[in-house]
Order: sequence, then C-alpha cells, then structure tokens
Amino acid sequence: MKATIKCNKNSILAEIDKRIYGSFIEHLGRAVYDGIYEPNHPQANELGFREDVLDAINELNVPLVRYPGGNFVSGYNWEDGIGPVEHRPRRLELAWRSVETNEVGLHEFMKWAELANTEVDMAVNLGTRGIDAARNLLEYCNHPEGTYYSELRKQNGAEQPFNIKTWCLGNEMDGPWQIGAKTADEYGRLAEETAKAMKLVDDSIELVLCGSSSSKMPTFGEWEYTVLEHAYDYVDFLSLHLYWDNYENDTANYLAKSLEMDRFIKDVVAICDAVKAKKGSNKKINLSFDEWNVWYHSKEVDSKRDPWDIAPPLLEDIYNFEDALLVGLGIITLLNNADRVKIACLAQLVNVIAPIMTVKDGEVWKQPIFYPFMQASNFGRGKVLTVQSNSETYNSKEYKNIPYVESTVILNEENQEVVIFMVNRSLEESQLFEADLSGFDGLSLIEATELSENDPKKTTDKNHESIKIKNNQSFRVESNVITGEIKPLSWNMVRLSFE
Ligand code: AHR
Repeated sequence: MKATIKCNKNSILAEIDKRIYGSFIEHLGRAVYDGIYEPNHPQANELGFREDVLDAINELNVPLVRYPGGNFVSGYNWEDGIGPVEHRPRRLELAWRSVETNEVGLHEFMKWAELANTEVDMAVNLGTRGIDAARNLLEYCNHPEGTYYSELRKQNGAEQPFNIKTWCLGNEMDGPWQIGAKTADEYGRLAEETAKAMKLVDDSIELVLCGSSSSKMPTFGEWEYTVLEHAYDYVDFLSLHLYWDNYENDTANYLAKSLEMDRFIKDVVAICDAVKAKKGSNKKINLSFDEWNVWYHSKEVDSKRDPWDIAPPLLEDIYNFEDALLVGLGIITLLNNADRVKIACLAQLVNVIAPIMTVKDGEVWKQPIFYPFMQASNFGRGKVLTVQSNSETYNSKEYKNIPYVESTVILNEENQEVVIFMVNRSLEESQLFEADLSGFDGLSLIEATELSENDPKKTTDKNHESIKIKNNQSFRVESNVITGEIKPLSWNMVRLSFE
C-alpha cells in the first residue's frame, strides 16, 4: 500500500501554540502524593519532590500543567493549601472520595512547576464557590503587593507574584457527577460574572470557559452555544474533553477513534463561530482541549474501592501499544487543527491515566503513550503546514473511510527543520510513504524513527524497556521527495534539515 502527501513551505495552516503540549496534575489518587511528591523517597529533593519524576517530566518538555483539577477543584478551598503546613486542614475530598491532607498546596505546586520548567493553568472552583474565591485567588497569585491577598502571599514566602496567565473557569460544570453541577444558563451567568471580576483584577490573563464534558453529553452543542452567549466577551477559550476506550477489543475500530476528536473540534469551532456571528463580534474564541487521553483500563477496579484513603491508587491505567498509537493519532489531530486548538492537556501526567508511573519507595517508569508525546513535544514546534494527503482507506464497525495513514508536517524555521509525524493504522501491511515537500532548498535527512510492535496489547509495566523508539533505515531524500517504508501499527517521525 502507498500513502502520499504534498505540501509547500509557504502554505502555513497555523503557528503552534506551545501550550498544545500541555498536561495535567490533579489532586487525585497518586498524582500528587506518592507521585510528584514523596518526601521520604531517596530521590526526593529538599521540598519533597521526586527528582527522578521531574527528569521524566522534563524529557516530555511540557510547557503547561493544568492544576489542581479536574473534578477535585469543584470542592476545593484554595485557602486550605496556603500558610504553615502543620496548620492546614485535612478534608474529606468528595470528587474522588479520598482524604486530602493539603500538604501540597499553591506555593509548593508553583515551586514544583518551576522545577518542571512549566507554566500553570490554574482552575478556579465554580462548583461549591464562585466569584469571590476566584478573584481572591487571582489577587493572591498575580497582584504585586499592597493589598490583603498579595501581602498574604508575601507573608507566606512568595515575594514576587506567580503571574499565572492561563485560568480555567471551573471544570466539567455540565456533568451530573460534578460537585455543584449547573445548567448552561446557571453556569454561563456565573462564568460571565467571574470572568468579568477576574479580568478587572488582572486583564492580562486568558480564561477558559467550560464546554461539554464530552461530545456524547445529551446537552452537547446547546451547552456550548448557551454558555458562550453569556460569557463570550470575557473569555478566550472554550474547553473540550475526550477519553477513549476499547471495551469492544477491536483494534481497527479503536484506532479510528481519533476521527471523533477531529469531528468534535470542528463542531465546537462551528458553534463558537455561530455565536460570534450572532453577536456581530470581532473576537474569535479558540479551543482548549484541556483533557484528552485513553481512560478505561482501571475503571472496574476503581469502582470497587473503599473510600477515604489518602492518595489511593486511582485511575492507574496500564497502557498498551495500541493506546500509544491512538495518543499519537490524537497529537496529529490536534496539530492539524492548530489554527483553533491553542491549548491541549494530556490527562494526566503522573500515575493517574499517565505517561509516567512511580513505585512508592521505588522506580519511575514510562508507559507506551510516553513516546509519541515526547517526540511531538520536543520536535513538533513551529508551524503546521497545510497538507494534501492521500491514503487507502478501510471501514470498521463504527467508522467509514478511515485513512490507513494519518500525518502532519511541521516547519521549524528556528532550527531550519521540517518534521513529519505519521501513524500507520493497518494491522498487517506496511505502507510506502512518499512526501513531496516543495519550496525547500537542500533538504537532507536528520533522522527517521519508528515505534512499532506486532502485538497491539504489549505493555511496559513488567518490562519497562519492552517498547522503544528505533531508527527507520528505509527513508531516502531525492531533491524534494522523501520516501520510506512505515510498518503496520506504527508511529513514525522523520526530521529533515533545509538551507
Ligand atoms: O482526568 C480525570 C477526570 O476526568 C477529571 O477530574 C475530570 O475533569 C474528568 O471527568
């Protein structure tokens, strides 16, 4: 089989906002406690953060981390996480029915973020709280000095403001499971007024309004339209969330599920633009895909767990190779929509539906999904080119005309590089891949790599080295045409330099 793409250096779809390679740390399960933070671990630094975990995170090169939830934020009092640790309250945490010790709070997390070389995407509680708590938290974080909350921050050890730029107005407020869930009108009004107050405190921030928790919600579409009608003038992004599963155990069908992500993005863009037209506004609302990943392997075990443990192992999906391919397809989809998707957060980062896992008192290890994200985040920076692609297609149980090969082409002018990411969905057949890249002088191959396995169910939990990125020796460059063979069930990256 053969797949071809054509593109031109000057045909730019969009500048990639680096925040598209964001991730997420929630106070949930072992993400924070016994994840990023384990003070008695031999690799813990003086703040209690594990340096081996930080090293793995730094390999992923994550520019933005959403915090502190997720469902957790809808019952969280941010004030519980400031001041002397020994005075902080232990709370019943209702979203995940655990006990929250508040040992890690705002200041600790901001210090961790610095070590992880990342910015924080801070969520405010619009479940049990509202405008007042949100504006106070923002004043605490971003106002330089001379007011109650800014001085409190200074007293608590942070002389300089945290200057957090990206903020989420609550989390999944349409979901019946959410503490303080709301109708679209209730949430729309609250988000509008909260956003207004927050922008009065600091007009340099960017705000994310909650879209639907998934495109399968019964109110999807109507929810987006209504909340935007209320809050349009004060917000910058609308959120999307999507989790994939393979309960049917049908790999060919499962790998087509990235098409749902593409459809979801296009539908939400259409709604944003419909509200823009109705309002006669000049402002464009972009998208924050602030939760996306595979999540299903751990659901049955989690449903049987007893409540009220501290840091119980929750949502600890053990990922396999087909999950890594779908995550790779997700990245390609996000990049090919980078004209509107400016923020995306792989949910989550450590232990909880995560690319990075830790063993208490023990090692850190990488799940299969780590590798496509790592390559894309490190090498997929710059601009996405508009591509004409041609691939043979197949049909699965739920989808029709699924291209075997999906790809995206990135122009990195700073490094004088073109980078192509490709996935071959075929279970059995290799593809001859041909890219015709016009407008480039002196193209030459830097490297071609592949992640490919015969067994889609292969994991890395028993043997952490069992899935590895390998070189693909088949790629050749002849003037502006690049050809190579991409294996069945594979994620691939080709990097080329130009003059
Ligand atoms: O990421 C896990 C959970 O999924 C988040 O807390 C919530 O927002 C979503 O339902």
